[in-house]
Amino acid sequence: MTQSLFLRALSGEILPKPPLWMMRQAGRYLPEYRELRAKAGGFLDLCYNPEWAAEVTLQPIRRFGFDAAILFSDILVIPHALGQKLWFAQGEGPRLEPVADAARFSEIREEIDPDVLAPVYETVRRVKAALPQDTALIGFCGAPWTVATYMVAGRGTPDQGPAKELFQRDPALFARLIDRLVVNSAAYLTAQIDAGVDAVQIFDSWAGSLGPEDFKRWSIEPTRRIVALVRARHPQAKIIGFPRGAGAGIPDYVRATGIDAVGLETEIDRSFVREAIQPLVPVQGHLDPQVLRAGGPELDREVEAIRAAFSDNAFVFNLGHGILPDTPIAHVERLVELVRA
Ligand code: CP3
Repeated sequence: MTQSLFLRALSGEILPKPPLWMMRQAGRYLPEYRELRAKAGGFLDLCYNPEWAAEVTLQPIRRFGFDAAILFSDILVIPHALGQKLWFAQGEGPRLEPVADAARFSEIREEIDPDVLAPVYETVRRVKAALPQDTALIGFCGAPWTVATYMVAGRGTPDQGPAKELFQRDPALFARLIDRLVVNSAAYLTAQIDAGVDAVQIFDSWAGSLGPEDFKRWSIEPTRRIVALVRARHPQAKIIGFPRGAGAGIPDYVRATGIDAVGLETEIDRSFVREAIQPLVPVQGHLDPQVLRAGGPELDREVEAIRAAFSDNAFVFNLGHGILPDTPIAHVERLVELVRA
């Protein structure tokens, strides 16, 4: 079987045109998503219904023919499967019952409840069966640090203050929380690969808020352990790391974790990527989601600049972060045209 362009790029192959997908490609900028989301009721109802979640995963593939689909789920299903209460308040993002002391931590399960995540694996099997052969399927989890920021605060925070406060006040407790997430995230990724995903991505969306020592301890080291645990079961597993905002810390992250490819935030310096990251691993990124939303000549220029900067080495075209919900579909169509030109 011929490999998808996406997997070939992850294996280090330099291609005439980079494969393309977009973070958050299944979502509110698509009318077909909004329609199904309204029918499902809650966001979690959509995530845990294999028929609907598979449909939503496939929607952007049908419309744009991206080179990879990403499983429709969320990074917060792990705390949910560990017994933490989770809900999505309309227009407000995720809410959880905070776990910020030893008493609350003792209520968290040792292992994920398999019944909670069974529908996710069923979604993987359905999507895999429905996808064109040359379209890869990406599974994912949140990195322990990023997931912990939501578990501790009970919500998204501008500066990850509550999680930082906990690791300063009680590093031993925070380390136990991170350990719990390492083991269970590895099991979750392994089960996604068993169910049929071709690659997995570890989203560390808040890596950039850590100082160098804390980045090593709470981002690099837990990610290294997840990679090792997944590879113990699947030695050939393709694993993408996305330590968003880590910037100059990325080369250390890549070397220490052993990931196969790394996601790049919008803000990173392109010559640094060429000189210090691309010699190590294939990269994926880093178009500004705001430039995509704005469209026009600036979009054309940016896509060209990114291709010119990264195409001498293995590279997957993507955004630097998730697509914004008010992005016009015509701009995504233009992006596809430009990347495929
Ligand atoms: O298309 C895809 O990328 C696949 C599905 C996916 C979602 N979330 C769906 C989603 C993926 C890969 C994620 C990852 C995720 N979730 C991250 C890491 C990546 C990043 O963006 O930094 C984080 C931090 C979360 C946690 C989360 N989930 C937040 C902060 C929010 C609220 C913000 C928002 O966009 O509403 C969510 C909700 C969420 N996850 C939505 C979607 C499509 C929107 C929910 C809705 O339809 O109302």
